Amino acid sequence: MSLASTEAATEIIAAKRSDSYSSTTRVERLLARFHQIRNFTNVLCLGLEPEDYVVQSMPDVSPTKWHLAHTTWFFETFILKKFLPGYRAEVPEYAYLFNSYYNAAGDMHRRDLRGLISRPTVKEAQRYRASIDSHIDALLSDIDEKLLDQVEPILVLGIHHEQQHQELLTTDIKHVFAQNPLYPVFRKPKISAESSAIPPQRFIEFEQATVAIGHDGRGFAYDNEGPRHQALVPAFSIASRPVTNGEYIAFIEDNGYTRSEFWLSLGWMTVNEQRWQAPLYWTKRDGAWWNFTLSGFRPVNKSEPVTHVSYFEADAYANWARVRLPTEFEWERAASECPMEGNFVEGEIFHPRPVAVASSVSADRPAQNQHLDQIFGDVWEWTRSAYSPYPGYRVAPGALGEYNGKFMCNQYVLRGGSCATSRSHIRRTYRNFFQPEKRWQFTGIRLARDP
Ligand SMILES: [Fe+2]
Repeated sequence: MSLASTEAATEIIAAKRSDSYSSTTRVERLLARFHQIRNFTNVLCLGLEPEDYVVQSMPDVSPTKWHLAHTTWFFETFILKKFLPGYRAEVPEYAYLFNSYYNAAGDMHRRDLRGLISRPTVKEAQRYRASIDSHIDALLSDIDEKLLDQVEPILVLGIHHEQQHQELLTTDIKHVFAQNPLYPVFRKPKISAESSAIPPQRFIEFEQATVAIGHDGRGFAYDNEGPRHQALVPAFSIASRPVTNGEYIAFIEDNGYTRSEFWLSLGWMTVNEQRWQAPLYWTKRDGAWWNFTLSGFRPVNKSEPVTHVSYFEADAYANWARVRLPTEFEWERAASECPMEGNFVEGEIFHPRPVAVASSVSADRPAQNQHLDQIFGDVWEWTRSAYSPYPGYRVAPGALGEYNGKFMCNQYVLRGGSCATSRSHIRRTYRNFFQPEKRWQFTGIRLARDP
């Protein structure tokens, strides 16, 4: 072998080594993340009894057991069945039972009947999780770079999907427990009731500008956050913090729920049909408002951001206050320089916190943004933007194209994440969406106004 060819051979070996080295570290990182997220789902379930896992308290709520199995089904269906040679499902019927809404992945069980399913048992669902996890380990333990390129994006999507279900699991078990006159406690309060003086709400002004909206492609994002595009955002002001319970009580006491002039027609119909008089989980006892929280039944803390309000209520409150809700582009512009910190699920408080307390945690905020509090975490903020595709958006082919695109009708965009959202899940460009009458998520209100 000539010197030149020896050098070439050495280079090839070195390249192969660095290839396998880089794929090893990639796999290690990916698996560590995968197991961390899978484990956090189990952490959320600590303290639940088998009976808790099965109840479905309304069609929007899924039983905890279903969340455990459905997130597992996602990895089995979109990764193992596709990429693990010779893989055969241990229980083929799970494909029907735990498919949520992916028509391209086959038929599915009715969403509103999930609470009737006592088998598989909780233990069997947990075994299903463990079995799929070990198959993912096996697939990744011996994967070449080319296959990894195909598997990684779907695995990462599955991880973010599971984080979304962690939030739903939390809000769903809250709804389940709220039906129980014993008011079970999901988590003992980590902090004592914080009734603090909060700063007055101020409006921060923004000049008209053409701004880039949407995800820039660095790191993971859902397809609905793109394509990034330029948008003209006229001058506006946005509130320095979300609306508090105390402020919302003023709206209630001013007969906000019985004055049609504040409400959208559909909202007015809903208020009357549902007989809403306050946010979800609120009850009046001896003249005072109490609310059910994941740490039990307790008096409403006037300093906390109001939560569990529908779009209709958020919009009516804004009309009563003679302002409006922000558009999602205004929100994204206002949030673009704000630090990604706040009361997220990692803090395991499971309830919004008063602003002053949250602010003291974040002493290192850039001065120019010190006026925008709680833009991330605590409560999802309703925007007045309908959930629709950005210019140039195309639904991806296949089942995973059903993830977001097909829901772009009759829903409103919410921004910023909540106390049940993972810090590692939220983004400045993240677009959550719900129908305007929904209120079982941690949804709240940030006001905006025209100059
Ligand atoms: Fe799902």
